[in-house]
Amino acid sequence: MRSLSSQLHLDHSSTDLSILLNCLAVACKDIASRLQQGAMAGVLGSAGEENVQGETQKKLDVIANDILKDYLQDSGVVRALASEEEEDIVECSKLGNYLVSFDPLDGSSNIDINSMVGTIFSIYETTAGGDISSQDFLQPGRNQVAAGYVLYGPSVMLVLTTGNGVKMYTLDQRIGEFMLTQEQVSIAADTKEFAINMSNQRHWAEPMQRYIGDLLAGQDGPRGKNFNMRWVAAMVADVHRILCRGGLFTYPWDQREPEKPGKLRLMYEANPMGMLIEQAGGKAYTDQGPILDIQPSHIHQRVPVILGAANEVDACLGYHLAP
Ligand code: AHG
Ligand code: MN
Ligand code: MN
Ligand code: MN
Repeated sequence: MRSLSSQLHLDHSSTDLSILLNCLAVACKDIASRLQQGAMAGVLGSAGEENVQGETQKKLDVIANDILKDYLQDSGVVRALASEEEEDIVECSKLGNYLVSFDPLDGSSNIDINSMVGTIFSIYETTAGGDISSQDFLQPGRNQVAAGYVLYGPSVMLVLTTGNGVKMYTLDQRIGEFMLTQEQVSIAADTKEFAINMSNQRHWAEPMQRYIGDLLAGQDGPRGKNFNMRWVAAMVADVHRILCRGGLFTYPWDQREPEKPGKLRLMYEANPMGMLIEQAGGKAYTDQGPILDIQPSHIHQRVPVILGAANEVDACLGYHLAP
């Protein structure tokens, strides 16, 4: 058995990056223990406030955000952080060399039904010593030095890339350590499974309507095979399924808010998941191009997301290019 710390050493991760990743792991263990206490700890339900995304915050959105902020600010290696739940960036240590963006709790509508949620994070290096601003965060996802998530499910799992493939760790609750349980995660190029919130169908652009329509047509339709659909309503769990057994996930452009295309956030969801998917051999696109090549314009920017099995992402993109 190999712990996260030993694996980071074998991967030649720098001391500071190892400190940062271990710090994130500890913060997520803390979040996991609060989730496990559930109603007994009084952590369920709404916090009664709205975040910068215009969403009503759950208590656990706020608790998870505060836990991550506390640990990262005290780590000594983080220059600043950005969060789905914070309007502005938060300065940490002057001597820190890393910028961390995170979605403290993904899938928060699942909290009150005791279903899967997660924490998603994205890490960049910075040389900004003096003043720091949100501009320093506006780097393409291609610049990420590490990305990952912790999934709070039947097991607590850490899924991580430092740019050399994807590894999965499982929390051994007896000893409180993340142990390596899968190396070389790889997504098959073809699939018969897709994930989308079908209730939004009437709001999608015409190419996405046609693509999903052809999947639903099954083996008698133009795709010539039967597709299965899954939707956990937490990107972290839907992406985890794709890393485990393949598939395509999309949260497409939606006509209801043309100035905010899609629901998912570039910095907290699309970029870190995009890096993981690419590192596992899949593809991560908007309807225009690779997610990781986007030059962000705002820390809370939203993007359409189409990711997973390489050939299926290509098939979906084909509908967007063809008349
Ligand atoms: P968050 O809980 O961090 O705001 O993100 C929720 C996102 C994402 O996890 C998921 O894919 C999507 O919202 C689910 O949305 P639906 O309500 O359309 O199912
Ligand atoms: Mn939210
Ligand atoms: Mn989210
Ligand atoms: Mn969230």
